[in-house]
Amino acid sequence: MEVKDRVIVVTGAGRGIGAAMCRVFAEAGCKAVVVSDRDEAAAASVALGIGPQAVANRCDVALEADVQHLITHTMAQFGRVDIFCSNAGITVKGGLESSNSDWQRMWDINVMSRLFAARAVVPHMQERGEGYLIHTASAAGLLMEIGSASYSVTKHADIAMAEWLSVCYGRSGIRVSVVCPLGVETDMLDDSDPIHRYLHLHSITAADAARSILDGIGREEFLILPQAQVAEFFKMKSDNYDRWIRGFQRLRQKLTRDQNPAGTSRNHE
Ligand SMILES: NC(=O)c1ccc[n+]([C@@H]2O[C@H](COP(=O)([O-])OP(=O)(O)OC[C@H]3O[C@@H](n4cnc5c(N)ncnc54)[C@H](O)[C@@H]3O)[C@@H](O)[C@H]2O)c1
Repeated sequence: MEVKDRVIVVTGAGRGIGAAMCRVFAEAGCKAVVVSDRDEAAAASVALGIGPQAVANRCDVALEADVQHLITHTMAQFGRVDIFCSNAGITVKGGLESSNSDWQRMWDINVMSRLFAARAVVPHMQERGEGYLIHTASAAGLLMEIGSASYSVTKHADIAMAEWLSVCYGRSGIRVSVVCPLGVETDMLDDSDPIHRYLHLHSITAADAARSILDGIGREEFLILPQAQVAEFFKMKSDNYDRWIRGFQRLRQKLTRDQNPAGTSRNHE
C-alpha cells in the first residue's frame, strides 16, 4: 500500500520509533498522521514539528475506552483510518521475580492494546474493503529478550495476534504487518545493561527503522525486519531448536557473568 493520501494513526508516537514513523509517513505524503501517546506533551511536540499534516492525540493504549476514542475521534476528523500502527510498548526487566502487576502491565500495553485497536478499527476497514494494521513487536518475539521474561512472552503474543488477524481478515482486504527490530537507538535501550549493550551491536536509528517500515508497507510484507540478520537467527531457531536454546544459554551466561542472575536494574516505560 502506498501511504500517500492515507490517514494514519500511530500509538506511542511521542518519541522513539513511533515519532520517526510519523515523520516518515508525513514526508511520504500521507493525508494525515495522528501522533498518539500517553504523554500528551510529547505527542503535541512531535505533531508540531511535522506541521499541518499531523495532529496530536492523548491515548493510553492499555485502556480500551482510550483506544476506542482515538479511533472514533480520527474517523470524525478525517472520515476514515487507513493504517493503524499499534506501536506503543514497554519493557520491564527481570524474570521469575517480576511482580504480577508488572506482568499485567506488560500484557495490557504490549498485547491487549493490539486487541483493543483491532476490535475498534477492523469493522470500519471491513466496511470499506481495505485497511492496514501494523504491529511493532520485536525480534524478541521471534527469538527472545534474555533480560526480560515478560518482554519475550508479550512480544511472542503480539506476533501471534498479528498472524491471527492476517489469516482471519486478509481476505477482507485488511493487510497486517508485524515489525520485528533488534536494537533501535531509543530511550528503551539501557546502555548500563550488558544485554542491551549487546543489542547495540546490531542497532539502528529510529529513522532507519521507520524507513524500513515504510518500505515494508509498500511491499505489503507480513514480516518487516529492519535488520536482515533477524531472518538468519530465526531460521537457525527453526532449523534446530535445541541447538538454538543451547546457544542462547551460552550467550546469557556470557552477558550476565558480571551481574546478579536475572538482576533487575531499570524498567523503561
Ligand atoms: N528500541 C528498541 O530497541 C526496540 C526494539 C524492538 C522493538 N521495539 C518496540 O518498538 C516500540 C516502540 O519502542 P521505542 O523504542 O520507540 O520506545 P520509547 O520508549 O522510545 O517510546 C515508547 C513511547 O510509547 C509511549 N507509551 C508507553 N506506554 C504507553 C501507553 N500505555 N499508551 C500510549 N503510549 C505509551 C511512551 O510515552 C513513549 O513515547 C515498542 O513496542 C517496543 O517494544 C523497540
